[in-house]
Amino acid sequence: MTTPAELTARLAWRYATKKFDSTRKIPAETWAVLRQSLVQTPSSYGLQPWKFLIIDTPALRTQLRTVSWGQAQVEEASHHVVFLARTAMTEADVNRLIQAQSAVRGTSLESLAGYRGMMVKNIVGADPEWIRQWAMRQTYIALGQFMLACAMVQVDACPMEGLDPLKYDEILGLNGSGYHTVVACPVGYRAVDDKYAGLAKVRFTESEVIEVR
Ligand SMILES: Cc1cc2nc3c(=O)[nH]c(=O)nc-3n(C[C@H](O)[C@H](O)[C@H](O)COP(=O)(O)O)c2cc1C
Repeated sequence: MTTPAELTARLAWRYATKKFDSTRKIPAETWAVLRQSLVQTPSSYGLQPWKFLIIDTPALRTQLRTVSWGQAQVEEASHHVVFLARTAMTEADVNRLIQAQSAVRGTSLESLAGYRGMMVKNIVGADPEWIRQWAMRQTYIALGQFMLACAMVQVDACPMEGLDPLKYDEILGLNGSGYHTVVACPVGYRAVDDKYAGLAKVRFTESEVIEVR
């Protein structure tokens, strides 16, 4: 078990890394666990309306940096993860989940009919713009879980909204794929001279952000 003291230490250790040590790669074993943290992310109804693109190709990283406010982390981090959300949800998406649930848990398709109908009504039948926003919100849960997982194994990360999602879509050939870019997260190891690592956290106090009623 992670003790409360260990969790406190990990939370204090993490920060949005501005400068990565480009010579350090995340070991395969650690990276496998971090990939699983993406796969294991919970989502509303379990629908998983996302995909995670890992950009390994250096030339692609260089291109993406130019549309990420020039942020060096995109090129210098060990790995660069791009979080994609579904652009729309169809009955096929619902069926995919129902089939998976039936296969994994041995549940009959008939007994899942009510659950299926609810998803078709509430998600497939929803306003397209609401669905687009919903899928993006789900994707942020993956980002949060990923960042915490990184901190737990002492891998540094920089959540990154400072990018042009439409340009990402273009460079990554996503148009027409059913997915679009939401946010990114370069990960790796902090450079010893990243001055941001030593800065005190700026957070509103507990009494300002947590209210008990
Ligand atoms: C969704 C999201 C997007 C962010 N985008 C960027 C970014 O593009 N570039 C960057 O350097 N930091 C980015 N940040 C980092 C925040 O500025 C940082 O998390 C915040 O100031 C708190 O500091 P800390 O994470 O170091 O504790 C982003 C953070 C979040 C959660």
